[in-house]
Amino acid sequence: MSKFYTQDLFDKNNHDKLGIHVEKMPENLFSYLKDNINTKSFVPHNSSLAGNIKEEYNIYNLLTSELHNYLVRLTFKPVFEGALQEYQILTSDRGFVVNSLWVNYMKKYEFNPIHYHDGLFSWVIVVKIPYDYEKELELAPGKNANQNVTSCLSFHTTHVLGGIQSCHFALKKEHEGQIIFFPSRMRHSVYPFYTSDDYRITISGNIYLDPDRKA
Ligand SMILES: [Fe+2]
Repeated sequence: MSKFYTQDLFDKNNHDKLGIHVEKMPENLFSYLKDNINTKSFVPHNSSLAGNIKEEYNIYNLLTSELHNYLVRLTFKPVFEGALQEYQILTSDRGFVVNSLWVNYMKKYEFNPIHYHDGLFSWVIVVKIPYDYEKELELAPGKNANQNVTSCLSFHTTHVLGGIQSCHFALKKEHEGQIIFFPSRMRHSVYPFYTSDDYRITISGNIYLDPDRKA
C-alpha cells in the first residue's frame, strides 16, 4: 500500500495541482552540466544551504547565457501566473536573473530538511539517481510503514482546510534529465536513500528580479 503513497513525477496533473513545472531538459544543456560538474574543484556551498549533506558546491561559473535564458523562460509557464500575481511590489516590470547555481552530491542517510529558497523561482535538476527505487521500497526502514517515503523529494503546502499536506515524488533513474521548477518559497525536503554507496546528484539554483534589467 505504501508503494502508492508517492506521486508520479511524469504526471502533469500532479504538477498543476501543486503549482510546479516539470520537463525534460534540452539534451545539450543537460549533457553540458553533467560533463562539467564532476571535477569537484568547486567552492563548497554548504553554509548557504539547508542540506544535511557533506558535499555541496557552488557551480555558478558554469552558467552560460544559453542555460540562463532557458531557466528564465521557465518562469513564464502558465502554472506560475498565480504565484507571480502574489508579488505586487514593483512599480514597473523588471527582468529575471539566475543568481545562484549549485550541485549536491548526496550520500546514503543524508537528507535535506524542510526549507525554502531565496529568490522567486528555484529548481532541482535530477542528474543521477544511484539506487533502484523498487529495491529502496523493499529495503528501507519504512517498508512496512503507511508512508514509505524513502528517497522522495517532497513539497509541503496548505490544503483547502488550512492544514499542511505533503506531496512526495519518488525520484527514480528514469527521471535523470528532468528539471523540477517551482516558486522559491514553496517548502520542500528530501528524504534519505539507503541502498547505494554512490552519489545521488542534483543541481539547483535560484532566480531573482534584477533591478537593472528591464523585462
Ligand atoms: Fe531546496
